[in-house]
Amino acid sequence: MITHSGEQVHGAPKVRAEAKDARNIIEPGVVIHPSVKLGHGILIQAGATIAHDCVICDFVTICPGVNLAGGVTVGEGAWIGINSCVVQGVTIGEWSFIGAGSVVVKDIPPRVLAYGNPCRVIRELKPEELGRIL
Ligand SMILES: CC(C)(COP(=O)(O)OP(=O)(O)OC[C@H]1O[C@@H](n2cnc3c(N)ncnc32)[C@H](O)[C@@H]1OP(=O)(O)O)[C@@H](O)C(=O)NCCC(=O)NCCS
Repeated sequence: MITHSGEQVHGAPKVRAEAKDARNIIEPGVVIHPSVKLGHGILIQAGATIAHDCVICDFVTICPGVNLAGGVTVGEGAWIGINSCVVQGVTIGEWSFIGAGSVVVKDIPPRVLAYGNPCRVIRELKPEELGRIL
């Protein structure tokens, strides 16, 4: 994973050169704490906030309005649905899919569909579903 210290981004996206090289897309209104480590091939959609010490691995998608508290790790290829909230220190396993509006209060294992408040694992994902739920 390429690591990168994000900058705060308000309004028009302001992204460091190395983040552009990493082919990350960071939409308007996103706020990323400078301590956050970003991989590459990441999409962070409008209005999402990512607090201190989060680690966002390669190929992650973070939908609009998602809030990640401090110290959250989002594994490679994971997908977090619109307006979800992830509390401090939680790890979301690689290629897992978090449904819209979820409140994630515990670690989520890799390769599962999970949603709800509190967020619960619904089922394991089949190999052909990884990164392709929607
Ligand atoms: C999770 C999702 C993919 C659907 O998963 P699914 O298991 O196929 O869900 P279904 O539509 O079959 O619904 C099954 C049950 O789960 C519930 N459910 C579905 N998604 C839910 C969610 N995100 N949170 C809470 N409950 C949910 C349904 O209400 C239904 O409940 P019921 O059995 O009591 O009627 C979809 O609801 C979702 O959240 N998509 C993400 C949308 C999004 O964020 N888009 C991004 C836009 S930029």
